[in-house]
Amino acid sequence: MNTTSSRPTHLRTWLITGATSGIGRELTLQALKNGDTVAALARDTSPLDELAQAHGERLLLIRADVRDERAVRDAVEGTVARFGRIDVVANNAGYGLFGAVEEASDPQARAVFDTNVFGVLNVLRATLPVLRAQRSGHILQGSSVYGQSAHPGVGLLAATKYAVEGLSDALAAEIAPLGIKVTIIQPGMTATPFLANLDVAAGLSDYDRTVRQVQKGIGELPPSAFSAAERIAAGIRTAVDSPNPPLRLALGASSTTAMRPALEARIADLEGWQHLTEAVDSP
Ligand SMILES: NC(=O)c1ccc[n+]([C@@H]2O[C@H](COP(=O)([O-])OP(=O)(O)OC[C@H]3O[C@@H](n4cnc5c(N)ncnc54)[C@H](OP(=O)(O)O)[C@@H]3O)[C@@H](O)[C@H]2O)c1
Repeated sequence: MNTTSSRPTHLRTWLITGATSGIGRELTLQALKNGDTVAALARDTSPLDELAQAHGERLLLIRADVRDERAVRDAVEGTVARFGRIDVVANNAGYGLFGAVEEASDPQARAVFDTNVFGVLNVLRATLPVLRAQRSGHILQGSSVYGQSAHPGVGLLAATKYAVEGLSDALAAEIAPLGIKVTIIQPGMTATPFLANLDVAAGLSDYDRTVRQVQKGIGELPPSAFSAAERIAAGIRTAVDSPNPPLRLALGASSTTAMRPALEARIADLEGWQHLTEAVDSP
């Protein structure tokens, strides 16, 4: 059934992955509050059952693991069958792996890429045909402060987010001529179950003074160090409402505090070693 014809044009249809918890849940709640329609994807949608009872017509719960390409395609088909279109794709599902780069096992490293990178690709391949046919849409790519910066313990997590940022840079240029926007979402530390859901790699004592110190420091952070998930979701919605949304959106003070020095250090290396950069092309 296509419900779009009777819908006010300012209302949107969202497809949100990882919609049961944290930032995804907040995005879902706020979109519904705004009058929008939402296809909420999660491996277990039961945490949203009550919400679905309250918003039956406008909330479609779909059980889908983003690692399962077939399930994601079916979810997108179900969304279009129900709502007729997709305006915003929030590629939000993801989790963290904490530990030194050397400590992460091969299965742990592959698993975090499976969800955080290949899951994102599954969602893109399933939704882009819909957005291309519409010649409209906005894709929100779930990155992080770790999409542009990293410190001991987050190497594998950052590797997934850097991957998302790299593919998103190309994607944005590929689909802008087709009327589709991309915004890379870079939250800082946010108060969600993210830390409780972390996978943690086995500890080697040589990393006690780096990785374990960072781990201890994160564990001791006061609640004030974390942004509220509802404020992050509200920030995302403001960007979606903008006629000219940014390609990258840092959200929360901890995001810029970490990313700015990392970005400045890259420029400093580029400029500080320019003589060598140019020397390789000199006759
Ligand atoms: N919290 C932070 O400090 C922070 C900072 C920067 C970026 N982020 C990013 O923000 C996004 C949301 O994280 P959050 O903080 O809201 O964490 P969260 O509360 O743990 O929520 C993560 C969501 O992703 C879902 N998910 C995980 N693996 C999945 C899979 N294979 N298939 C489908 N859904 C899956 C989870 O559902 P299940 O119940 O199925 O596991 C859950 O709904 C993530 O991409 C994260 O990297 C978070």
